[in-house]
Amino acid sequence: MINLNGIQLRNRLVTSASLLGYGAGRGRFALTGLSPIANFVDLRRFGAVTVRTVTTQPREGHFTLRESFGLTGIPEMIRLYRGALREVDGGWLNAFGWSNIGIERYFDEYYPRTGEQVRILSIGGFGVDEFVELVEVANRRAAPGTLAALEFNVSCHNVNVDFEAIIEEVLKRAVPLSRFPVILKLSPDFDYLEHARLAVAHGVAALAAINTVKGLRLDPATGAPLLKNRYGGLSGRAIKPIGLRVVSELREAGIRLPIIAGGGVRTFADVREYGWAGADAVSLGSEAWLKPLWSMPLAPLHALHIRRLVGQVANWAPAARNER
Ligand SMILES: Cc1cc2nc3c(=O)[nH]c(=O)nc-3n(C[C@H](O)[C@H](O)[C@H](O)COP(=O)(O)O)c2cc1C
Repeated sequence: MINLNGIQLRNRLVTSASLLGYGAGRGRFALTGLSPIANFVDLRRFGAVTVRTVTTQPREGHFTLRESFGLTGIPEMIRLYRGALREVDGGWLNAFGWSNIGIERYFDEYYPRTGEQVRILSIGGFGVDEFVELVEVANRRAAPGTLAALEFNVSCHNVNVDFEAIIEEVLKRAVPLSRFPVILKLSPDFDYLEHARLAVAHGVAALAAINTVKGLRLDPATGAPLLKNRYGGLSGRAIKPIGLRVVSELREAGIRLPIIAGGGVRTFADVREYGWAGADAVSLGSEAWLKPLWSMPLAPLHALHIRRLVGQVANWAPAARNER
């Protein structure tokens, strides 16, 4: 186990929020919610699995809460996915808009089944009160020590919330209430240096950097946006240099909190690069878990690559800060 300022992780490789849904499928080969690749990777081997952002109430967002499609429903499922997630220029553009089952159902249905994983629960509120309520629910429903941390998502572009306006109050009220260490997830599109300073001032245990980068793609023939929400969050290979920039700038600004870094991580070389930039741990997102539909039969091969990466990171520690 490693200890990042009170956050106990099995190793320094965690999975990014939402990429593995709630940490378990509905069934072994469920078509939605969990990457098919995950069926071939033991999720208990990760430093932690970060759960999809949950809200107090279930939300369809820009996707759906429907869980079973059956064979005849597959075209509809693909249509829904295409409105919320597209492969684009060196990455992925998504706008699920906090589509989630709600925190109570997470605790009813997934928390009991994922007890052997190290878990980070991502929470998202539309206002200060909702963040407070989410922390209270987590305190009430999760036994001490059964969540490695709560991750505050104040950096999503696909919901209509002015996070910059509420972040200070969220931290002031919700962090002291939490029985679990708090991670603040930063956006490269907001004033992340200021947000990191607020995190330090209000007792946040670690930073997650970065969330997706706001982006837009249009159909070149018609001008119609590719996503239902018009804008989306760009993730994957394309944003790795941005993630590295943010981590490095946080360190240059004198921020000493542990940083769980991510954005386009796929290989051990990426992990080491983030380590040199100033990361203490690294998170694996799109590049590992999202693949075009046609390549899904290759899921066992993709999984082989991920299993190897987990092994490599288990033996890795970033250089001490003064060596970077
Ligand atoms: C399909 C998809 C859904 C995501 N949902 C969430 C979410 O619910 N909460 C969150 O904090 N980040 C979410 N993210 C952002 C990722 O956790 C991660 O921060 C981002 O994708 C950058 O890492 P990557 O380039 O390795 O994917 C999502 C990303 C993708 C691609």
